[in-house]
Amino acid sequence: MSMLPKVFVTRRVPPDGLDILRKSGQVQFEMWDSDDPVPRMELLKKVKGCDGILCVLTEKIDAQLLEAAGPNLKVVSTMSVGFDHLSLDELKKREIRVGYTPDVLTDCVAELTVALLLATSRRLIEATHEAKTGGWGTWRTLWLCGHELANSTVGILGLGRIGVAIAERLKPFKVKKFIYTDVTPRPELANMIEAEYVSLDKLAEQSDFLAVCCALTPETHGICNFNLFSKMKKNAIFINTSRGGVVNQEDLYEALSTGLIAGAGLDVTTPEPLPTHHPLYTLKNCVILPHIASASYTTRNAMSALAANNLLAGLRGEPMPKELKL
Ligand code: DGY
Repeated sequence: MSMLPKVFVTRRVPPDGLDILRKSGQVQFEMWDSDDPVPRMELLKKVKGCDGILCVLTEKIDAQLLEAAGPNLKVVSTMSVGFDHLSLDELKKREIRVGYTPDVLTDCVAELTVALLLATSRRLIEATHEAKTGGWGTWRTLWLCGHELANSTVGILGLGRIGVAIAERLKPFKVKKFIYTDVTPRPELANMIEAEYVSLDKLAEQSDFLAVCCALTPETHGICNFNLFSKMKKNAIFINTSRGGVVNQEDLYEALSTGLIAGAGLDVTTPEPLPTHHPLYTLKNCVILPHIASASYTTRNAMSALAANNLLAGLRGEPMPKELKL
């Protein structure tokens, strides 16, 4: 019987990561070879006795799962930059090390955020629908008018690597000013994009475009609520590519349907998938994408490779390329 550390990979991962695991000769691993999540009961069985787990964001790594895995578990490596699916306290308590995948997805996520912002503000989805379904009559002076980036103020809620990358991409569109809010000022990042630190209220009041880039934590849960939307400009466009949990969706529906704000572009929702009967789908001024911000072949492969390398380094007892400080 092999004495190599035992690893469970909770989903079919892109080839680069898989190759690293296979070629390492360092672990014996089993993979849930499917594009769909492993059922929870199955997952609890599969992790039993494992030394390492490589997971994606749909797997809740909580006390129940850690109990099921047992005392051998040393490393959890998630193929995501977000870690709201991990119970960090439980992991810390058990001295289990955690790897995640920041940086490698920054460009891809920023690119999609800009695409979603433009699709929302320039009403592209509505426009193609009109063209395809006979709504395109004569050229009309105000038909399908939207809001432009030139001369605008762009607000970033939660300034990290991704927020900076979004601002860098938006700057050539002649944005007048970048503002941001965070728990505390982040001058090093802000200087890169000449962004001014403001309060959350001021961010809401001044932004023509508001991009949410913060992590989902107990502090940010539901932070985008009626209170925030009601302070925003009527022409404002709200964009979220972080986590659905930062938004109170009932309040967003209210804000969009009563004209408190002009539009919203969401790559993330609660729950995911958002059921097809959800009221937000009925709104023309709401563009909803199925959580695809990091979905390029290059980035998903890079994420899987980093997740594999984090896992292997952690199991060797070495520093991980990207380890989450617990
Ligand atoms: C993440 O990594 O957390 C994204 O949401 C998916 O790439």
